[in-house]
Amino acid sequence: MLRCIECGKEYSEEEVRYRCDCGGLLEVVIDLDKVENIFNGKNITLWKYKSFIPVERRVSLNEGGTPLYRLENLQRELEMKELYVKNEGANPTGSFKDRGMTVGVSKAIELGMDKVICASTGNTSASLAAYSAKAGIKSYVLVPSGKIALGKLAQAIVYGAKVLPVRGNFDDALRVVVEASRELGVYMLNSINPFRLEGQKTIAFEIFDQLGFVPDNIILPVGNAGNISAIWKGFKELYEAGFIDKLPRMIGIQAEGASPLVKAFKKRKPFEPEEKPETVATAIRIGNPANWKKAWRAVEESGGLFESVSDEEILKAQKLLASKEGIFVEPASASSLAGLIKLKELSLIEPDESYVLITTGHGLKDPNIIIENFKLPEPIEPSLEAFREVL
Ligand code: F0G
Repeated sequence: MLRCIECGKEYSEEEVRYRCDCGGLLEVVIDLDKVENIFNGKNITLWKYKSFIPVERRVSLNEGGTPLYRLENLQRELEMKELYVKNEGANPTGSFKDRGMTVGVSKAIELGMDKVICASTGNTSASLAAYSAKAGIKSYVLVPSGKIALGKLAQAIVYGAKVLPVRGNFDDALRVVVEASRELGVYMLNSINPFRLEGQKTIAFEIFDQLGFVPDNIILPVGNAGNISAIWKGFKELYEAGFIDKLPRMIGIQAEGASPLVKAFKKRKPFEPEEKPETVATAIRIGNPANWKKAWRAVEESGGLFESVSDEEILKAQKLLASKEGIFVEPASASSLAGLIKLKELSLIEPDESYVLITTGHGLKDPNIIIENFKLPEPIEPSLEAFREVL
């Protein structure tokens, strides 16, 4: 069953529907009497948690089961007690979006849809394109012209999506996609679609399964605000099913130039979209997060917070994570570490608690900024002498 988070109205899951008649966001209600307690640390993949997932596995590229690393070096350097990274870049197309798409595209097939569509800052389009290719259905992706990382664009093209650049930003593209899904009968797989979040909530399940306990804090980047809502839903389901007895704090990080949630949260003012979002972290260059109400609830209910980080802090954290821990993530993903560092400096977090940073996308998707900021030495002659000289 689908239920409106605002007015509580219920709808059948068999209906193609993205919002309530009142305009509110919908969520899938899971029957927690039927879920299985299989949290034994073994054979971790997304579909291990199928009893929590409201569709059959139809389209899969073996997503999930991503590594959870203890950050031994950074933990020491930052004088923290327990620091981990859940590296979602290890998914089949290199981002957490694959969790949403294995479920979302499976749902599209269940509903008999043969065309799917999304707006995207890059990763969603790459993932939708791959899962549609596997399912043998047509995909359309609308991306902000000139503002999508090259690797992500290449992925969408090679998987065979119809890629359409839009003169405008992500928020503009999403507006078109919402209208298209309503008027043209294409199935929308942006994170307003509640089935996407049903896949992404498995990040919570895996963290608990891998650690064997619930961490005190989860820190992650926030763009369209689907993932923070999904992970919170996952933890709440574990709690309500009686499998865990505490919940983590959810800490959402936005880029300074695209931080409408942070501004509303800090100033205790009503949420207002930002007209001209701008950041080097193009994945989260979003001014009007469609899921902001779910994200707001996640942070409030969990006693968490929203914080923003500058582009400079993001790039510094990206380099730090790669050079100290061997984990290369794209700029948006590095905002979780940048956020942790900033919150620690501001004494807004407890160094003795446990933290899991979610790194959402692989660094190879967006290498340009690294190359642009690094000057390679002049080529040397192919001889040992020449090499010795530069050693
Ligand atoms: N990190 C990465 C790498 C992303 O690609 C995104 C979102 C986010 C974080 C934020 O997640 O939207 O659930 O709050 N990317 C979307 C896209 C918008 O089109 O690929 P969110």
